[in-house]
Amino acid sequence: MSQETWNAVDRYIGDLFVGRDTALEAALEASAAAGLPSIAVVPHEGKLLMLLAQAIGARKILEIGTLGGYSTIWLARALPNEGQLITLEFDPNHADVARVNIARAGLASVVELRIGRALDTLPKIEAEGLGPFDLIFIDADKENYPEYLRWSLKLSRRGTLIVADNVVRDGKVVDGDSSDELVQGVRRFNELLAAEPRVSATALQTVGVKGYDGMAIALVIAGP
Ligand code: SAH
Ligand code: DHB
Ligand code: MG
Repeated sequence: MSQETWNAVDRYIGDLFVGRDTALEAALEASAAAGLPSIAVVPHEGKLLMLLAQAIGARKILEIGTLGGYSTIWLARALPNEGQLITLEFDPNHADVARVNIARAGLASVVELRIGRALDTLPKIEAEGLGPFDLIFIDADKENYPEYLRWSLKLSRRGTLIVADNVVRDGKVVDGDSSDELVQGVRRFNELLAAEPRVSATALQTVGVKGYDGMAIALVIAGP
């Protein structure tokens, strides 16, 4: 199997199960034009996020790591009119691009974008009593994934779904001796998640246009 095959299958799945989507395509085009890195989830992963949120009837979603709002748009589409998605982004330029993309997708009324380091904005979200969230998507700086898990659990209830992107990192995740802090952050996250008695969790490997990576999915099974 080669990267070429993975790319072709990504296109095949995307064409079949997602198809053309003006708002999402415009979001990617505007993100690229503004110089944002092309590291958004791929279309069929975005749809998976939407389907997971719909399956649990999510009304309140928290996203850590907005970029240009591509995954935000998918997740927000799962919400009812009175639903709410809070998305956290460190880079004000990314946030500017995301705001336009989210508005163009007609989702400005359900999405609230908060700028700042997530480890600074998460305590405020807790202090404001905005939790518990029904679904939490972790996709920001990998070094802080263990901390994001801690906050996600604080902002959860029994039945909350926690999803984390990029938990395989080209397979580097199996290297306990890796000097890469991103890899160590993800390793620690996976270990904490696996050992956490308040969740039942698993992880999937993914291949495609973004290379080789994976997603973890955890259901909170204890708590209020
Ligand atoms: N979820 C997006 C991709 C997010 S990429 C999608 O799939 O469409 C990761 C994002 O996290 C980047 O925009 C980066 O600026 C942001 N980020 C990095 N460190 C952060 C931090 N400490 N707090 C909040 N956001 C951060
Ligand atoms: C990177 C970040 C991501 O969220 C992703 O999905 C792929 C790559 C990165 O920082 O390299
Ligand atoms: Mg990611």
